[in-house]
Amino acid sequence: GHEGRIDSLLSVMTLEEKVGQMTLFTSDWDVTGPTIREGYQDDIKTGRLGAIFNAHTAEYNRGLQRIAVEETRLGIPLLFGYDVIHGYRTIFPIPLGETASWNLEGAEESARIAARESAAAGLHWTYAPMVDVARDPRWGRVMEGAGEDVYLGMKFAAARVKGFQGDDLSDPFTLLACAKHFAAYGAAQAGRDYHTVDISERVLRDIYLPPFKAALDAGVGSFMTSFNEVDGVPATGSEHLLTDILRSEWGFMGFVVTDYTSINEMIPHGVAADEAAAGKLAVNAGVDMDMQGAVFYDHLVGQVESGEVSQGEVDEAVRRILRMKFALGLFDDPYRYSDTIREKENILTDDHRAAARRIGRESLVLLKNDNNTLPLSSDRGRILVVGELADSQEDMLGAWHGDGRATDCITLLTGMRNAIEGATIDYVANMVDAVKAARRADVIVVAAGEKWWMSGEAASRADITLPDEQEAMIAQLAATGKPVVVVLFNGRPLALPGVDSTASAILEAWYPGTEAGNAVADVLFGGHNPGGRLPMTFPRSVGQVPIFYSAKNTGRPRDANNKYTSKYLDESNDPLYPFGYGLSYTTFEYGKPSVDQSTINRNGTATVSVDVTNTGQREGTTVVQLYVQDVVGSVTRPLRELKGFERIELAAGETKTVTFALDNQSFSFYRRDMSFGSEPGEFRVYVGEDSRTTNSINLTLE
Ligand code: IFM
Repeated sequence: GHEGRIDSLLSVMTLEEKVGQMTLFTSDWDVTGPTIREGYQDDIKTGRLGAIFNAHTAEYNRGLQRIAVEETRLGIPLLFGYDVIHGYRTIFPIPLGETASWNLEGAEESARIAARESAAAGLHWTYAPMVDVARDPRWGRVMEGAGEDVYLGMKFAAARVKGFQGDDLSDPFTLLACAKHFAAYGAAQAGRDYHTVDISERVLRDIYLPPFKAALDAGVGSFMTSFNEVDGVPATGSEHLLTDILRSEWGFMGFVVTDYTSINEMIPHGVAADEAAAGKLAVNAGVDMDMQGAVFYDHLVGQVESGEVSQGEVDEAVRRILRMKFALGLFDDPYRYSDTIREKENILTDDHRAAARRIGRESLVLLKNDNNTLPLSSDRGRILVVGELADSQEDMLGAWHGDGRATDCITLLTGMRNAIEGATIDYVANMVDAVKAARRADVIVVAAGEKWWMSGEAASRADITLPDEQEAMIAQLAATGKPVVVVLFNGRPLALPGVDSTASAILEAWYPGTEAGNAVADVLFGGHNPGGRLPMTFPRSVGQVPIFYSAKNTGRPRDANNKYTSKYLDESNDPLYPFGYGLSYTTFEYGKPSVDQSTINRNGTATVSVDVTNTGQREGTTVVQLYVQDVVGSVTRPLRELKGFERIELAAGETKTVTFALDNQSFSFYRRDMSFGSEPGEFRVYVGEDSRTTNSINLTLE
């Protein structure tokens, strides 16, 4: 390790220089929050600034690095961070969309490519993966994570960390990753961004923390605190989260950065009277680096001198940060990530575009397909494409698109024209012309959904239906009697019962990124058979929200014939499309699951097998999903929880046997006394195509 070198460095650093390492300011590029700080270059020079974010490109960052290395007393290199969330310049589907592929290798690969591009463009550190479990689609940031499920979230958290960091941070093609936002940011009340979080310790540990632990087990080197409070304490000032859980229980050795000015925000939260008090709360809770707040910068030196904050606390924070700078190899060559030739060779390459197209089409979810409307045959006749989103480059990128450029993007219209040369494709952007043009068309493809800025940070929506004019347009076009295919671009589950009843086919495309149009055209014309499955429940109406598959049964489960049971007077309890759902151009049949031993003990493993057959006419992908229900527990348990999945490809007529190993971990949870483990008894194991499956078998844990 580098601990010896860190010790010697610490022994010669002044207190100001130490606090400098704990300070992170944005450069004047791509500001992602409310304030901008002038004069940050002078702060680099005086050793009072150790990390910069938003600055990118090899040349620009080399210039800033040169100040740190050549003009400061100790020459400690800067750390450059950026929100590289779903690609740097080659943009992949938004993470929620990518999760719909249920393809862990794909997620690892997109993160690896994002790292490759960024690490060639002056960057060391990405503020990803976002691993917040999100169960409220009103919350705009659901686009950035892996959706509603704990297990799926854990798997994708680990895959993304591995993709960004590789096996070795000193490899100059990898990035330091950051698990965010610690913790429970996704539980904002009513889906309003930054709103209060009030959940039990049990829910925190059962639902919100496991993906963070999975990121840590995969080696993640940094954590970011969340803006919200948890149980009355803002996460940025929470010793419980940052010290008790993260350091003491989990043994995390990396560093913790705040979110943007979240130390300062403890004043409006109402737990600190002024910045000095807020800073003290943060550093004592276990924060190592202050993002943009300048609170450590302004107050920490004085607080150590007066004895209000211990020198040891500061030394520990600096040690954790330097540990990562050493691990990245910055002390061996501070410019190793700022090479303009390497940058040119590695950004937006044909290979990267090809990967974006492949991962893009795997993220698409076929929600409806009456009468096999899709795929469209290339001799389908006259195709009418409708809607502004069909020819918008910028909307294909989605929020948090790094250095992604609209001009690089393939729109739906271009992708369709690329796919079928010589075919007649008419395009109209607006409704009035569309209904007229529909008369001459044989099939209509409508691009609908949200503009890119309608989801993401600070993009909560109280109404998650389609904009009225889109809904009306789809209904009018459907009324012509021509088949209407709706392609959705959006960053969250939408409530779509209207469209579901009028459209012939619906394809959920999320925001697919740079290769959007090509990826969608691959599916529309049948070159690729869609295999995506929803990572988040689609409700029928916003009044059902939050609605997720792993709900509890309640003491009065719904009974249609009994008023006094848990249900709505004016809405069904069921979602429009459940978690795990997605159609294919072929059909699959699942056999009954079997288990090698119906009674196992705590140290044993049960092997569950199921035969899956492609019963249709062409090859296809299905995601075999396994859910477990603990029938009786010391505390109430969800009706089912995902505990395994496997994405398989089957040729027409082919059968594969898929097996899952279930062990004590698969049955464990926080028990009544808050210890983690399993309880003996009966378990129901479901295996099927989505979270509604009734295909099950029982087993007993002794
Ligand atoms: O990384 C982000 C975070 O997710 C939200 N606030 C701003 C940060 C830096 O851009």
